[in-house]
Amino acid sequence: TGACVELRRNRAVQELAEDGGEVPESYICKETPNGDGVAAPVPSMDVPIIDLKRLLTSSEELQKLQSALISLGCFQIINHDIQFGLLDELHENSRKFYKLPTEEKQKYARGQNDIEGYGNDMVLYENQTLDWTDRLTLLIHPEDNRKLHVWPQNPKSFREVLEKYASSLIMILDILLKSMAKALGLMENSLLNAHGKTPTLYARFNLYPPCSKPDLVQGLKPHADGSAITILLPDKDVEGLQFLKDEKWVGIQTIPHALLVNIGDQMEIMTNGIFKSPIHRVMTNSEKERISVTVFSTPRFGDEVGPVEELINDTRPRLYKTVNDYAHTYFKYYQQGKRPIEAVKLY
Ligand code: SIN
Ligand code: FE2
Repeated sequence: TGACVELRRNRAVQELAEDGGEVPESYICKETPNGDGVAAPVPSMDVPIIDLKRLLTSSEELQKLQSALISLGCFQIINHDIQFGLLDELHENSRKFYKLPTEEKQKYARGQNDIEGYGNDMVLYENQTLDWTDRLTLLIHPEDNRKLHVWPQNPKSFREVLEKYASSLIMILDILLKSMAKALGLMENSLLNAHGKTPTLYARFNLYPPCSKPDLVQGLKPHADGSAITILLPDKDVEGLQFLKDEKWVGIQTIPHALLVNIGDQMEIMTNGIFKSPIHRVMTNSEKERISVTVFSTPRFGDEVGPVEELINDTRPRLYKTVNDYAHTYFKYYQQGKRPIEAVKLY
């Protein structure tokens, strides 16, 4: 099955950062970006801006989406209809949650081998370089599957704000999936149907504490997302997210209150490799903590979704098994330090 076996637990990165001691060896990257312990400055790129309100009616906007998806696999959405105040509250609530005393946060601790709850990078294999991050992961959709005992009750508005955010994202995903299908020349509902009426959504509240050796650690090591679609609320002030573009790292900045969307491996599978799930990572810095909220959307767990039939033909044979096969081999591949999508390639 897709179960993960956690080898051991570590102290919260936040506490390591507050202690101000040496950075433990397990966080030090074996291969530093330049091999000399100094991260090279990276250029930044402009992330295409997509106006969500215009997307379903304007062919020009659809064109922009298509080119963003084929070239980068990511874009930022504006005019998404979520009140800026709600996004600010979501961010502020994450900050307040991480400010709570350790004992309070521990009430929501992730159980052994669970995905949901509060904790840090899971140790899944020996000699794994750990990410300099703490996180709180919660399933937010379908509602009936929420495990409310790991949803913080402090700050007071945490649950209510997250519930509102989750409902807005369902509507945004509907528009995105319809538009992506159109961008592929498919019937409007083809990806939406494949993705399912009841998608699974996980929210992850990421804390990247400052680090005294920012060039030697990573907030998140290079990876492609295991989702179909990822929607990120980045930190408003602190940068750190980088994408691999033409084999070079590039930093990105987003417009305040825009949401960053990227394709994950499951969408790469569903589109038979036409949309590529981009590799990205998070760098830390020595002064400021960074907080972001990632939401991962996937078809309902267990659904046998493969590449859309219309995207398979003589010149482009079927490239992948199903997203279900993917989900089942995800941790096994991760545990071997391999890219999970390799597990389901047919060629
Ligand atoms: C992620 O890759 O899920 C997190 C990105 C970020 O924190 O900016
Ligand atoms: Fe990611």
